[in-house]
Amino acid sequence: MRAPFVYDPARPDFQDRAYDVYRTLRDEHPVYHNAEAGFWALSRFEDVRAAAADPFAFSSEGTDTSQGLLPMIQALDPPRHDALRQLVSKAFTPRRTADMEPEIRRIARELIDGFADDGEADLLARFARHLPSRVIGEMIGIPPERREHFLEWTEALVEARPGAKQVGGHPALRIYQEFARLLGERRATRRDDLMSALLDAEIDAARLSEDELLGFCFVLIVAGNDTTTNLVANGAVLLADHPDQRKLLVEDPSRIPNAVEEMLRCESPAQALPRIARRPVELHGATIPEGALVRLVWGAANRDEREFADAERFDAARSIQRHLAFGQGVHFCLGANLARLEAKVAFEELLARFPDYRLRERPTWITSIWARAHPAVRVTLG
Ligand code: HEM
Repeated sequence: MRAPFVYDPARPDFQDRAYDVYRTLRDEHPVYHNAEAGFWALSRFEDVRAAAADPFAFSSEGTDTSQGLLPMIQALDPPRHDALRQLVSKAFTPRRTADMEPEIRRIARELIDGFADDGEADLLARFARHLPSRVIGEMIGIPPERREHFLEWTEALVEARPGAKQVGGHPALRIYQEFARLLGERRATRRDDLMSALLDAEIDAARLSEDELLGFCFVLIVAGNDTTTNLVANGAVLLADHPDQRKLLVEDPSRIPNAVEEMLRCESPAQALPRIARRPVELHGATIPEGALVRLVWGAANRDEREFADAERFDAARSIQRHLAFGQGVHFCLGANLARLEAKVAFEELLARFPDYRLRERPTWITSIWARAHPAVRVTLG
């Protein structure tokens, strides 16, 4: 007799079977209910997209997963969400992101120089882990000597990788305290950084409150660091596993941005995020009750054959019109352009220096209910 199907991403063996589980979810349980663990799940592309696009049926209020203590943009619904998003978007502009490219490249090269002569490296520990935190630290205006602390504190918040340092006190509090101090300095003297721009952001005489400022700075480092690290690390493994495709990127780096979209689709760093049903929702003959916790499984939606031909295959040249790795709707990732730029530069630099790197061992997966993350990516540089 077949054991009853269970989708429980908290199980230690889940990540190894994730994509088989997702296929069963999509095909046989499009509205899945795990009564024991107390959640529902949507996994088909169209269902996940539609749910994310309807914040009135599927609310984000009260769903914070990042252990933040202040109200944060991704856990607010419209209209509060939209007002905050408008204000922060005044500071976190596409221009400010695009201007970072030379700095991102400088940081990427410096990191690569640090291990280039070693013959082998853990690309996660030496490269992917540091790039996003240095970049956002630079953008926000965190002094260089404080950045390692921020990295440790944020890593203590998300599921710890083996070797992550233990942090005394509540790491979120440490982060707020440090930001409060830095914001105090910026109030006295503005600089050309995101913190100063946030202090100046104003729409219709509305400004960000101190709590909103702190909450937003917190989100920038918590939402952006680990996800981008995992994009680069997961992508590096995909390319090692597909040397023919990698060769095409080495020969023509202008193909890299498209390959990054396919990495996002195939191994989405944010696999799922929560919503609360604000009213009963009928779908595929089932009713999700009001108040239910619903997981939107981006990682399953992004491999849905109903949306993508040959969806389980990594194809760096695939023409991708859309995917859900950065979410959808009002909460669509504010850092998407930055993450894309970082990954583009990361692979341009990595492949220029090490076109033939090889995995030394098959990387394992971290047990996480939200993320798709390797603990290490050890390679021979070639
Ligand atoms: C590959 C890297 C990244 C991935 C996969 C990712 C994924 C996501 C997803 C799926 C959401 C939607 C959340 C929801 O609907 O509940 C989101 C929102 C958000 N992301 Fe990202 N993200 C990445 C990088 C970044 C970076 C670099 C930053 C900032 C520096 C950032 C800042 C944000 C913010 C502020 C939100 C909330 C937006 C809102 O609620 O209006 N993310 N991200």
